Amino acid sequence: MALKIAVLKETTEHEKRVAATPETIKKYIAKGFTVSVVTGAGDNAAYPDIAYQEAGATISDTNIAASTQADIILCVRPPVDPLPYKPDALLIGLLSPYHSQDRLSAYAAQSLTALSMELVPRITRAQAMDVLSSQSNLAGYRAVLEAASVFPRAFPMMMTAAGTIPPARVFVMGAGVAGLQAIATAKRLGAIVSATDVRPASKEQVQSLGASFVMVESDEIKEAETTGGYAKEMSDDFKQKQAKLVAETLIKQDIVITTALIPGRPAPILVTEEMVRSMKPGSVIVDLAAPQGGNCALTQIGKTIDINGVKILGFENISSHIATDSSALYARNLMNLLAILVDKNGDLAINMDDEIIKATVLTKSGQIVHPGFQ
Ligand code: NAI
Repeated sequence: MALKIAVLKETTEHEKRVAATPETIKKYIAKGFTVSVVTGAGDNAAYPDIAYQEAGATISDTNIAASTQADIILCVRPPVDPLPYKPDALLIGLLSPYHSQDRLSAYAAQSLTALSMELVPRITRAQAMDVLSSQSNLAGYRAVLEAASVFPRAFPMMMTAAGTIPPARVFVMGAGVAGLQAIATAKRLGAIVSATDVRPASKEQVQSLGASFVMVESDEIKEAETTGGYAKEMSDDFKQKQAKLVAETLIKQDIVITTALIPGRPAPILVTEEMVRSMKPGSVIVDLAAPQGGNCALTQIGKTIDINGVKILGFENISSHIATDSSALYARNLMNLLAILVDKNGDLAINMDDEIIKATVLTKSGQIVHPGFQ
């Protein structure tokens, strides 16, 4: 019997992405799956029901109708209301396991095999499944465009008969996946771009994009990067030096894009109220770390605020502002993960010795099996 995939309609507020696209559905069907998409699931991402039907999916009326039948349930965010599932069905999505012990217990009680896309390890073999990278990349791009849309000036230098317009100055804080894409986008728009990070490896990447690198000189940066490539929490002494440097730099900027994160910790506060007040009216801060608490002390999640003419944008879910492409990449990430969960005969085969699967499975056979959440 062909395995049945259900693609849910998202129920989380502000979530416009969808977990499968007509492109991935065609591929699932070519591999022998049957696919059912809940009506309207792709509407907010510009994938209408008809496109899914043309790709070979059937349309279900409700999430309940789709999940009851399915062997594999695909979602972006965890369904808000509990759904009925077949025992041992797979639920795959951004299940945000860190703050939802009750939900994990419920998945276990329903004997679901729940897999959390945030937990895919950042190893070479898993790159095609790496949702954090695929979504951050688009978020970095979109952040610059959102800034440009509220910035009352132009980005590129313009020489006109009526005089010259100077280029905008963009400062990117945190030069990881999102930050590097923000730099590249701001450069393409003609801005003068600089960036900072605590990981010395990022210097070359920033410079190779044509931006200048601003960094605290300290021996501590030699140990700022974990073996996984992430940043560590810095010492108070470093933070003070960084705050001074940031304060001096911010006064000269028009646009600030902040993306700094430390895994498992709240986002570091890099922009204080005093710094915001020192910026020129018309300047814009886009705080991509808003969902993790924000890099700017004044950021309010889901809001644009105005402090003496400086706008601070704290998006709740910036990926949903570019939902067609973020869904397309997310859907491919899911499909690539699913490929290692099914054997040659088209049957589910959850090999808990596989390091990607082991890192990603939260619940299985009635238990919470992930050691990080027991
Ligand atoms: P992230 O989203 O955790 O953090 C964003 C950036 O903020 C990082 O560059 C981090 O160093 C920086 N940051 C943290 N604290 C800071 C502070 N106090 N001041 C300034 N900057 C601060 O990281 P992301 O973007 O997910 O990736 C980080 C690294 O992992 C990169 O080197 C990236 O190339 C690498 N990576 C490797 C992958 C693989 O091998 N499969 C996949 C994805 C990323």
